[in-house]
Amino acid sequence: MSRTVLITGANGEMGHALIDRLAQETSTNIIAVDLHPLDDQLAAKVGTNLAGDVSDPRLWDELGTHDIDEVYHLAALLSTSAERSPERAHNVNVNGTMGLLSMSRAIGARVGRPVTFLFPSTIAVYGLSSVEAKERAGAVKEDEHCQPITMYGINKLYCEQLGSYMSRRYGQLLDQQQDVLDFRALRFPGLISAHTVPTGGTSDYAPEMIHAAAQGKDYACFVRADARIPFMAMPDGVQALLQLAAAPRASLSRTVYNIGAFAPTAAQIASRVTGHWPSVAVSYAPHPKRQAIVDSWCADVDDSAARADWQWAPQYDEESAFNTYLIPTITARYGG
Ligand code: SER
Repeated sequence: MSRTVLITGANGEMGHALIDRLAQETSTNIIAVDLHPLDDQLAAKVGTNLAGDVSDPRLWDELGTHDIDEVYHLAALLSTSAERSPERAHNVNVNGTMGLLSMSRAIGARVGRPVTFLFPSTIAVYGLSSVEAKERAGAVKEDEHCQPITMYGINKLYCEQLGSYMSRRYGQLLDQQQDVLDFRALRFPGLISAHTVPTGGTSDYAPEMIHAAAQGKDYACFVRADARIPFMAMPDGVQALLQLAAAPRASLSRTVYNIGAFAPTAAQIASRVTGHWPSVAVSYAPHPKRQAIVDSWCADVDDSAARADWQWAPQYDEESAFNTYLIPTITARYGG
């Protein structure tokens, strides 16, 4: 049976990785949306390619004419970009999500079955009040420490709740309740891709450091050596999205799930990088505001609910992420 999936933010890091993966399934028809036109190589892998702003109602109307089965709403302004333009971030991250949720509800009602809506959330929803509190908290559960200090974290936390409301309680005083939307969210750690470099995030120091080293460049890290947050190799991030999308709804005890893989300090990442590329130097030039953001995020996540409910297990731990995915693939990318 064929299915139609909508991917917003298709040009982004996760969009690239998800499209590469879904394009291998002949039965999947991909509708890709991004603010900027897709590059030719990516465009060749999708059925429909639309340039547009996810907060534009004209885009919702156009997309709403398609019989979409699954939505992967990846478009967002990440944490550093959102601090630079908070109003714009709210518009894209919140109004865009609300529009796409309503659009999905309308499609579900029209076709007579629920649209599955996958929402990438983030460790930015956590807000620890100090480095000591962060160390004390260790691996946090989904319902702990949800006091984000960034616009991005606030937007994502609200949209988790919005999606849940739109899915389960929309118009609860109305009589005609229909099962038209199935909202599921994943809280991603920092993602590291061997193929792309992120823009606008605050976990970017890890991928920036690795990609710089592979090009023989020194790197000045914008957080302290002891800064620690969870990270994940991009193939595991994509796998988690697809696995949660495919999980039987009855097996899900929650709407929002943490997922983790490894949680190194910046110094531990640097040591793997300089261990492989010894001619490269990593120095530390903490940016006070970006450091404060990373200090407020949890040091690690407790992902036991995802492991129990839909058998989440990352393929890559820190060692294998570097040795079998990142180092070989990035080395090949930059021509050895
Ligand atoms: N990678 C994101 C950011 O840095 C966090 O989820 O904004």
